Amino acid sequence: MSGTVRGAYAEIDARHLGKSFHRRGSGKAAVNDISMKVTSASAIGIVGESGSGKSTLVRMMCGLLEPTDGTVAYNGAALPGVLSTRGGRREFRSRIQYVAQDTTSSFDPRRTLRDAVRLPVQRLLGMDTETANVRVDETLASLELDPSMADRYPAEVSGGQRQRFSIARALGVKPRILLCDEVVSALDVSVQGAILNMLKSYCAAEDCGLVFVSHGLPATAFIADDIVVMRSGVIVEQGTTDDVVERPQDPYTEQLLEAYRGLDEVEQLAVAAAR
Ligand SMILES: Nc1ncnc2c1ncn2[C@@H]1O[C@H](COP(=O)(O)OP(=O)(O)O)[C@@H](O)[C@H]1O
Ligand SMILES: [Mg+2]
Repeated sequence: MSGTVRGAYAEIDARHLGKSFHRRGSGKAAVNDISMKVTSASAIGIVGESGSGKSTLVRMMCGLLEPTDGTVAYNGAALPGVLSTRGGRREFRSRIQYVAQDTTSSFDPRRTLRDAVRLPVQRLLGMDTETANVRVDETLASLELDPSMADRYPAEVSGGQRQRFSIARALGVKPRILLCDEVVSALDVSVQGAILNMLKSYCAAEDCGLVFVSHGLPATAFIADDIVVMRSGVIVEQGTTDDVVERPQDPYTEQLLEAYRGLDEVEQLAVAAAR
């Protein structure tokens, strides 16, 4: 796998994935027989109410959680094998990055935001501090983040700023696929719009694949070309964003759309402004 060119095509192919947190045979599976392929050219949204299995699915797709059933392949190679060597782990972690909603626990309170963004660059790309700092500045600039803010500690910035830096930390290594798990869900609607715009333009400019996970349809429809709707651990509908939003086939998608239509005026304005 060494020898692949940076910026090259990457894909994660999940087949018949299942995850049960119970002992075999007891209780319902969190994810049940889901197959999905995402690539560096994808902009896929995974939407579904809380508890539908979205996080469990994407965490298996990026090697953070072991499936009970099924397989995940990265560029054609089975993930356990890829992750069993140091080189394989390094390549995978530099190409596939995961960003979660909770930014309070994911930053070391004793390190500045700059250090937080720089460390994975050094560790995964093998850069020295000086070169890595240049890369950090590039990343902050491409995300229109104020570089002076990077000298602060995580607790000294707002939740929205911290979330931007957690995205910067993932993008610093120039991943080929970014998986965002509810990254805007805890934020004000206006901040959501700004972050969605930031993500969308970055991924378009850098040719980076995106898997955007959210319980909300508006944000997902704004950012994704294709949408997968999950409920109770299975896919109930999938298609292009236009098809899913304009011509939903499943009653559950209809329900999610009703919530979309039920947004209050301020939220609709913010969603529209983000377009
Ligand atoms: N570590 C865990 N241990 C036990 N149950 C879990 C664990 N993680 C998730 N679950 C359960 O799996 C189901 C799906 O959860 P999750 O993937 O977090 O859904 P979503 O991200 O869509 O909200 C839920 O019923 C949840 O309680
Ligand atoms: Mg989740």
